[in-house]
Amino acid sequence: MRLNEHPILDFSKRRGREITVYFEGTPIKAYEGETIAMALHAAGIRVLSHSSEKHRPRGLFCAIGKCSSCLVKVNGIPNVRSCITLVEEGMRIEMQRGKEELPKTAKPPEWKDAPKFDADVVIIGGGPAGLMAAINAADAGASVILIDEQPMLGGQLVKQTHKFFGKREQFAGVRGIKIAEILEEEARKRRSIKIFLETSAVGIFQEGDKKLVIAVRKNKELLEFRGKSIVVATGAMEKMIPFENNDLPGIYGAGAIQTLMNTYGVKPGDRVLIVGAGNVGLILAYQLIQAGVEVKAIVEAMPKVGGYFVHAAKVRRLGVPILTRHTILRAEGKEKVERAVVAKLDENWRPIPGTERVFDVDVIALAVGLRPSIELLHQAGCQLLYIRELGGHVVRRDERLETTISGIFVAGDTAGIEEATTAMLEGKIAGIAAALKAGAASPEWLREIEKAQEDLKEFRSGPFGRHVLEGIKKVMVVRE
Ligand SMILES: Cc1cc2nc3c(=O)[nH]c(=O)nc-3n(C[C@H](O)[C@H](O)[C@H](O)COP(=O)(O)OP(=O)(O)OC[C@H]3O[C@@H](n4cnc5c(N)ncnc54)[C@H](O)[C@@H]3O)c2cc1C
Ligand code: FES
Repeated sequence: MRLNEHPILDFSKRRGREITVYFEGTPIKAYEGETIAMALHAAGIRVLSHSSEKHRPRGLFCAIGKCSSCLVKVNGIPNVRSCITLVEEGMRIEMQRGKEELPKTAKPPEWKDAPKFDADVVIIGGGPAGLMAAINAADAGASVILIDEQPMLGGQLVKQTHKFFGKREQFAGVRGIKIAEILEEEARKRRSIKIFLETSAVGIFQEGDKKLVIAVRKNKELLEFRGKSIVVATGAMEKMIPFENNDLPGIYGAGAIQTLMNTYGVKPGDRVLIVGAGNVGLILAYQLIQAGVEVKAIVEAMPKVGGYFVHAAKVRRLGVPILTRHTILRAEGKEKVERAVVAKLDENWRPIPGTERVFDVDVIALAVGLRPSIELLHQAGCQLLYIRELGGHVVRRDERLETTISGIFVAGDTAGIEEATTAMLEGKIAGIAAALKAGAASPEWLREIEKAQEDLKEFRSGPFGRHVLEGIKKVMVVRE
């Protein structure tokens, strides 16, 4: 179901021309500018594929192209990520049933035909970290290529309707969607930045003294990007927790629900159970209520709420119970979520028999944390370490965010899970450092790096930051 009224967002301005696509032969109304998964959800279609081994139904989970649970066949071509592929008039979409073969008539793109693009600095990821890296690298004098696999710039910011916390200079008090607009405008103003959207980077290689980034545009065209240095700012992806039937359609990461509601104006369902009472879970509860969706409860395994008191108080005032020391035991339903069973936990984190409660919901939202998206850095050969304080595996790097491979820099959630403010500051450092490495910036720019480092230090001096600093200490490479 589509949202037409919203206290903050005006979807009539965001939706493009009305078009028709076909799902399993049935015509579906869609709007230009939205992804296949969003159009199908708006039409009430939740099951998008069936798994390859046990043929279990699968649906949207991350909505940012990172989990592969939304694969469909488009015009006969399998393995298309429906959450980041835009609809086109007359498109024929089919559910993907396990492993599917390319049709005999389909001709895969060839290397020799790949268009080639060169710049001083190639930046992968156009969220707050990548955008700030691009803007600062360009200002320092570098030519820049900025790649993102989404159809729009802004990363996680494009779905954050709430006002951000943090420092005034880094947009505290401004809504995430507005920050995305400001950064995009700044990037587009600079003629030395070339932007490639709907373009997924799939590999990083050394070629002579340059870095080669291989990418795929719109699922069909191979592109080659060459840079003297690279910034990887690919963000993070939602964590999954183990419970029975955790793959049923209707179980989403919190960010996917925000993408449905806040980016595309599609209601995720009618009744929701949220797992996780950190800031993300609490903000999500509020945003769901704003969109007219009932939030039955938030369950939290810890003995107390992890998010800010002010968010928790707001959610409680709206009548949403927060059940601490509770967890989800299982999801129930045939082809999609129909119920969720939760239970109280004892001091050893074991469910207490007899405390089970059943919630009649059609959506389960997992807000249980994020993990850094380090796949490209891993493939490129950067050294990795598992650092709990930073959310999972992260790369080793120095103070200017250069990894153990010379010329490859990292910034934002990919470097460790934090916030948009720190992502932007790290983007600034990595962007200037990459421009310096490429020989495109003068040494005066070192002063700007120092300023951003000082701001980061100040920002991380709070209780959340101290925890992150402990993690950073463990991955820091000290260069002579
Ligand atoms: C619900 C929620 C609420 C939040 N609230 C706040 C808040 O109030 N204040 C705050 O400071 N922070 C907040 N945050 C955190 C903040 O949004 C993130 O920390 C920030 O967006 C991280 O920026 P990033 O640029 O590192 O990553 P992202 O914003 O995730 O951007 C990464 C980009 O990389 C692209 N990408 C990934 N892989 C590839 C690839 N292979 N090829 C091409 N492109 C790729 C993605 O498409 C994406 O656009 C919130 C986050 C969530 C989920
Ligand atoms: S890849 Fe599309 S939902 Fe995760």
